[in-house]
Amino acid sequence: MSATTVTTRAAARVVDAVKIYGKGDTEVRALDGVSVDFPAGRFTAIMGPSGSGKSTLMHCAAGLDTLTSGSACIGGTDLSTLDDSALTLLRRERVGFVFQAFNLVPTLTVAENITLPMDLAGAPHDRERLDDLIDTVGLRDRLHHRPSELSGGQQQRVAVARAFAGGPDVVFADEPTGNLDSRAGEEVLRLLGRTVRRTGRTVVMVTHDPVAAAHADEVIFLADGRLVDRMQSPTAERVLDRMKAFDARGASDTGASDMGSAHTDPAHMSTQHMSPGHMGPADMAAAHTGSGHMGPAHMDSAPMGSADTAPAHTGPDHVAPDHMAPDHTTPVDTEAVT
Ligand SMILES: Nc1ncnc2c1ncn2[C@@H]1O[C@H](COP(=O)(O)OP(=O)(O)OP(=O)(O)O)[C@@H](O)[C@H]1O
Ligand SMILES: [Mg+2]
Repeated sequence: MSATTVTTRAAARVVDAVKIYGKGDTEVRALDGVSVDFPAGRFTAIMGPSGSGKSTLMHCAAGLDTLTSGSACIGGTDLSTLDDSALTLLRRERVGFVFQAFNLVPTLTVAENITLPMDLAGAPHDRERLDDLIDTVGLRDRLHHRPSELSGGQQQRVAVARAFAGGPDVVFADEPTGNLDSRAGEEVLRLLGRTVRRTGRTVVMVTHDPVAAAHADEVIFLADGRLVDRMQSPTAERVLDRMKAFDARGASDTGASDMGSAHTDPAHMSTQHMSPGHMGPADMAAAHTGSGHMGPAHMDSAPMGSADTAPAHTGPDHVAPDHMAPDHTTPVDTEAVT
């Protein structure tokens, strides 16, 4: 719902988004009528139990996957009006990605990784922006190193710089701190927040972690493919309370919310939804496992890989709060480690 009269331009938006995987008995409604704007110049976090549709929403909003019905727009462009090559172009020019598994190209230096999407697109380097980014992510003294010579946190900072390098309308990040310990994760989150504030760019981040979500300007909550709540100026405590409330209320939720619930639907508050065996859209898994340089063809299907191929949360400090634990150990992510 829009309780506020403030009209902000949406960097990305989905309207009545429905995504159905499979058919008949195996049909899964991953998104069940989600409408949400991601306002320009803001940092939005998407939270919800495993299987609630967070990655699906992100992939469809980013043009990595298509909706079954409804629409997804980046800026003013309705993605459904684009053919494959136009969509690829739009992703390269207007969208940045950060994934849990960093997905840097091992044979390239930090500097080359940062400019890779621009180089593949044949886009000129904006030296000033790159310089500024390199300072913002604190990697000036590592520019000629390879990813294997960097810590996990440093690698993810490279991925963040890469996502912003082309000056995208919106950067989508799927659990960007999922593989980091709390300190490195905190650095990446501060970096995302700082970049939004300094450059006016837009970030949409999926996370399981209330502490991570608290870095955002707003949190939207999904459950069973529906938008069930949203929270402005979140704190970790309030996010945690909200998640606990979802758990405690389950199917008997009253729907009352002090934060302006969008579609508070009692039937969709369950957090017990597991997601067995799904894989995301075509990815660039080779980017972090393969030995060679990936060609542009790989970039076409999914520019920077998919979180669904990423290792599970391995950071010792990144253990989810108890109430989320059953949903936080989705076997598929662990199995998908390549
Ligand atoms: N390619 C697919 N084929 C079939 N089902 C899928 C596919 N991708 C996702 N799903 C299903 O859609 C639902 C939503 O999945 P999604 O990956 O969006 O959840 P999520 O909220 O990101 O979960 P997690 O927190 O575990 O990453 C799940 O039930 C999942 O099993
Ligand atoms: Mg996911």
